[in-house]
Amino acid sequence: MSVKKKSKPRTKKTSKKIFVNVRDVSKSYQMGEVEVQALRNVSLSFKAGEIVSIVGPSGSGKTTLLNVIGALDYVDSGSISINGRKLSSMKDKELSYLRRDTIGYVFQNFNLLEEINAEKNIEMPLILANLEKIERKKRVEELLVSVDLIERKSHNPDQLSGGEQQRVAIARALANNPKLLLADEPTGNLDSKTGKKVLKLLIDLSKIQNKTLIYVTHAEDSAILADRQIHMSDSKIVKDFSTSK
Ligand SMILES: Nc1ncnc2c1ncn2[C@@H]1O[C@H](COP(=O)(O)OP(=O)(O)OP(=O)(O)O)[C@@H](O)[C@H]1O
Ligand SMILES: [Mg+2]
Repeated sequence: MSVKKKSKPRTKKTSKKIFVNVRDVSKSYQMGEVEVQALRNVSLSFKAGEIVSIVGPSGSGKTTLLNVIGALDYVDSGSISINGRKLSSMKDKELSYLRRDTIGYVFQNFNLLEEINAEKNIEMPLILANLEKIERKKRVEELLVSVDLIERKSHNPDQLSGGEQQRVAIARALANNPKLLLADEPTGNLDSKTGKKVLKLLIDLSKIQNKTLIYVTHAEDSAILADRQIHMSDSKIVKDFSTSK
């Protein structure tokens, strides 16, 4: 008689794992003779699946923070770890795999390739990840459905509205199923109604797919859609609190 192995009882996890850890990070830019401090001893962490907004005055360091977390720029001192691995210990090739597979980026100006259509823009990261053509087509269809753009798939960016372009950019960011999404003012070039819709879509998709989402915004009514809000001022974190629901 075969004895069935007892499966472990499932317990609901109450504390989520830290996914991004920023430790005492400073960064400055040299402008001729002048040194501009963009981040000053910033420490904070983000849990897996957290939805976080960052607000603060222009020049307070929001983009710089997102760029160093996203391995698009280097820190001067301190360290950043993603999923337990320090970025400073990774070789260039590992960093490029990290950017391709673990992080999805959404930018204010969409950053789509102008000369190819929506479908091909979304397919691009899948080509870079060496996915077979048949798999790519399947994945692109799924992504187009998730951002409700099947009917616009043959349109080039200049034949799409701003909101549609950002939805293409969101689908592209999600293509390789990254665990972390970084969005720098994703609604900054959209009117407030469209912006809100696009942001809600980004948040909903992140929640459904259990992604960590960190987005920068200038609008208070956009910031409160996150579970946690971070305020920056003068290169530092000045407030960090949960949104009361
Ligand atoms: N490439 C750069 N060279 C020199 N200085 C820079 C560079 N990038 C940013 N800075 C400076 O670093 C500081 C922080 O810039 P950052 O772009 O992070 O601000 P921000 O909070 O994103 O502002 P905004 O809301 O206007 O986008 C600013 O004083 C800025 O002038
Ligand atoms: Mg910025």
